Amino acid sequence: MHVHRFEKLWFGASLVLIVAFMGTIVYGAIGPGVAMVGDDGGTIDSTVVANGNFERADNFRAPGVYASSDGEGVEVYVVARQYLFNPGTAQPIEVPVGEEVTFHVTSADVTHGFYLAGTNVNTMVIPGQIARFDVTFEETGEYGIVCHEYCGSGHHTMAGQLHVVP
Ligand code: CUA
Repeated sequence: MHVHRFEKLWFGASLVLIVAFMGTIVYGAIGPGVAMVGDDGGTIDSTVVANGNFERADNFRAPGVYASSDGEGVEVYVVARQYLFNPGTAQPIEVPVGEEVTFHVTSADVTHGFYLAGTNVNTMVIPGQIARFDVTFEETGEYGIVCHEYCGSGHHTMAGQLHVVP
């Protein structure tokens, strides 16, 4: 079969466009400097969270940053409540660059959001549920943490900071 030279040219050009288009999708899914996988964490009694009785939970620890039990990376436990992140609001969450950071995020009261501005790290935070996800930050930097679910009169003030440090 004879294929016209310009048909070949257009075929090649459309392939380039398809690859470029897929590239933008992949880049959008990965985001600048952040790779993320997984989204599961189980359930928790939200009164345990509200009362700070974390010793009663087998899948959640007192809010803070801990070394992973397997010796690699860190585990970050965050409680969202009207209208703050603990940790995050009163003091920044500090995580190491280039290591796997496993977030466990839950709510003490109503549904909130947990969005790291400028990344694809974005989850709903639902009372009774733990949002768990892994993120590796490839560069140091500072990110704003934003609540993106309306959670009451102080919703627009609910924010925090995450610092990726050497
Ligand atoms: Cu918390 Cu909006």
